[in-house]
Amino acid sequence: MNITKNPQKYLNEEVTLEGWLQGKRGNNHVQFLQIRNSGKIIQVVAEKEKFSEEDFQKIKSISQETSLIVKGILVLSEKTEFGYEIQLSEWKVLGPSMNYPITPKEHGVDFLHNHRHLWLRSRKQLSIMRIRNELSFAIRQYFYEKDYLLLDSPILTGSVGESAGTLFETQYFDEGKAYLAQTGQLYLETAIFAHNRVYCFGPTFRAEKSKTRRHLTEFWMVEAETAFFSNSENLDFQEDFIKSICKTVIQKSSEDLKVLERDVSILESFLEKPFARLNYSEAIEVLQKKGEEISIGEDINAERENILTSELGGPVFIINYPKKIKAFYMKENPENPETVLCSDLIAPEGVGEIIGGSEREENLDKLLSRIQEEGLNPENYTWYLDTRKYGSVPHSGFGLGLERLVAWIAGLPHVRECIPYPRMMERLDP
Ligand code: 4AD
Ligand code: MG
Repeated sequence: MNITKNPQKYLNEEVTLEGWLQGKRGNNHVQFLQIRNSGKIIQVVAEKEKFSEEDFQKIKSISQETSLIVKGILVLSEKTEFGYEIQLSEWKVLGPSMNYPITPKEHGVDFLHNHRHLWLRSRKQLSIMRIRNELSFAIRQYFYEKDYLLLDSPILTGSVGESAGTLFETQYFDEGKAYLAQTGQLYLETAIFAHNRVYCFGPTFRAEKSKTRRHLTEFWMVEAETAFFSNSENLDFQEDFIKSICKTVIQKSSEDLKVLERDVSILESFLEKPFARLNYSEAIEVLQKKGEEISIGEDINAERENILTSELGGPVFIINYPKKIKAFYMKENPENPETVLCSDLIAPEGVGEIIGGSEREENLDKLLSRIQEEGLNPENYTWYLDTRKYGSVPHSGFGLGLERLVAWIAGLPHVRECIPYPRMMERLDP
């Protein structure tokens, strides 16, 4: 019997429901128990006249997060979130729960994160995890329908994928150092020669010493790589991808977005119009006009990203950054060799960069010298460089940070609530 999935099937019938007591209210005549099953909260009504005094007192004393089985008739109840309620006739406690730490009163953020294993049961957290689930599924579906092959990239790697500054490393038997993957990109690049269009979707790791609301040390990234694809095709693809998956999630998660009090119309307005595209040098000019002291060659920090999205009224692609502030694999811009063919997609509402993408350097010698310039050991890249030796082709790709997109869609100020168990500089437990 799955009444959380299919309640109409059991309307006006006797049903049993297992679950946990999320909360309860009521008086001496009637008690309303909120029971959680499969992430849904179903109201169970206990009317005193149906029970002995002793039993009614027992019902009244069932404590928060006790697990129980209830039996009763399922009826319509338009005022409740679930739309149906159960008129209680029998109940049985399975596992008691005494002094549950997370009560309906306000708790501090640290306290809640220390109790993350319990906090996941709370109302808003149920919604956030469901939105993440819908988003993950929409992403997989999008790529499946576009004939992209899911190619799972390794997590333990022998070469630096993104930048040497943020590596988690460990000794790997007699083979030297292993790193936790910062990206699956280099492996995807090898796989386009087999499948043309590939993507990976999994955890990635950055030993970032940044305590910001957008940084995790372990985050999920979805990366796509496409053969015979230019940077401008890559931009169009990213825009379609973001618009498509966001619209799907807005539709599928409408109830959860309401629970989070997300004003969906703001989000929808951003998705209706084309995303602004700005050259890096134009972005610097915009910032300078706004009184920022920034010059060509500097990276654009979070605060300045916000200025740009406010000025342009929505998501912004910043295109063709200076070579020296970007990763070694990006293709030199033939029209301005000081820059590379790349893009960052900046989301509005304080979210910041959600995608990094680029065309990849396909010339073996140029790529090799960039690897050397970065102080990386070319011996660790022989396998990667083979892609430029055996049938090199123009190709492009990008990576999207899942938690940042969840934060944007759900209207959450911090990425730490967008992943079940956040890993940050000062948090490894639970
Ligand atoms: O811009 P990044 O570093 O790009 C890459 O890793 C490329 N290899 C992707 C590719 O072209 N295949 O990271 C991509 C995205 C960022 O835009 C951001 O959304 C997210 O990953 N990200 C983080 N999210 C949370 N915490 C962090 N520390 C993050 N670092 C990057
Ligand atoms: Mg980036």
